[in-house]
Amino acid sequence: MKNIKIKNNIYYVGANDKERRIFDQLIPLPDGTTYNAYIIKGSNKIALIDSVDPSKKEVLLGNLKHLNLSKIDYVISHHGEQDHSGSIPDILKIYPMAKVLTNQKCKSELMDLLLIKEDNFATIEDGQEVSLGDKTLKFVFTPWVHWPETFITLLIEDKILFTCDFFGSHFAFEADKGLFVNDQELIFEPAKRYYAEIMSPFRSIIRKNLEKAQNLEFEIIAPSHGPLYKGYDYTQFIMNCYKEWSSDDVKNEVLLVYISMHGSTNKIVAHFISELKKRGIEVKAFDLSNADIGNIAMELIDAATVVIGTPTVLTGPHPNAVFAAYLVKALRPKTKFLSVIGSYGWGGKTVDFLADLLSGTGAEILEPVLIKGYPKDNDLELIKKLADNILQKHAQIGLI
Ligand code: FEO
Repeated sequence: MKNIKIKNNIYYVGANDKERRIFDQLIPLPDGTTYNAYIIKGSNKIALIDSVDPSKKEVLLGNLKHLNLSKIDYVISHHGEQDHSGSIPDILKIYPMAKVLTNQKCKSELMDLLLIKEDNFATIEDGQEVSLGDKTLKFVFTPWVHWPETFITLLIEDKILFTCDFFGSHFAFEADKGLFVNDQELIFEPAKRYYAEIMSPFRSIIRKNLEKAQNLEFEIIAPSHGPLYKGYDYTQFIMNCYKEWSSDDVKNEVLLVYISMHGSTNKIVAHFISELKKRGIEVKAFDLSNADIGNIAMELIDAATVVIGTPTVLTGPHPNAVFAAYLVKALRPKTKFLSVIGSYGWGGKTVDFLADLLSGTGAEILEPVLIKGYPKDNDLELIKKLADNILQKHAQIGLI
């Protein structure tokens, strides 16, 4: 790849992974991703900001070769996860004098995960500045975006904030055709999906980290996934998105995740959707037999109520419904109300099982509706009651 300059003596050296369709063997990547890495050439020292996923190390090494660097003095490792740190051992083989600059927590992770030797590190503290000569790096600890060790770096003179996972998006942009977001609508969904899947469990800490970022003076946000944000409108756009997503605000919306085996739950679900819509409540429904969990995660950011629809399999919920409930619990959404609808043949503990799984979310569980066999007219009255209950609850918290 040709040299991609961001500013004077600052280059993009990352890799595009547009073919990748799953992350952590869990998260679908409909738009692929990038692993962004950057070179900063100061008048005295040269720093590499993060590395790339090991599957793309040849791209990073090729980009560095193309820059014809005589040395790398520092590798700034913001985050221990291997999509950013995984090629550091290869960098150290080629540039053995380089020091990995990171905090104590990340150092410990990198020693465990990548078997990097202690001698290769120099640790930094929160707020510390390191001079590269005519350019200065300032490190700001921002735990839990995405792991506990994560931090961000301000390049003071050039006003660039390197944020690693924070403000990232899984979007395989072509760096040689343009580094910066130029269409807010286009990046909104990949950024929201990314936030939903990676960041949403840490809402309260994200709010604190946003404040820390806001106190810094920068004109460019350079994350480690997806395109960069340049200029006030664009940097404020992504920061405002994060403000909204990490707030406690919810919408007059029901997220309904369901699965049906022989049609009974489908019939209940269809009736429930119709009753909610009659009451002016927006419904986002996902059939768990083919749903993309990224879409479910995104709706968890907004929905005031989550309802799980499931048949009874043997004595409990369908395994896909268990997965959905686990996901809801793991992402710690701001959802205020939860319920269960579905069907059974002869008995079972479907509701107890799901209620148990969802305990600790802080949401109020609304009276579930579990119907024996194919739903009859009087059964459907119970669904209307649940829709009424949701309407009332949404009104109580000021959504209507
Ligand atoms: Fe992109 Fe948490 O790694």
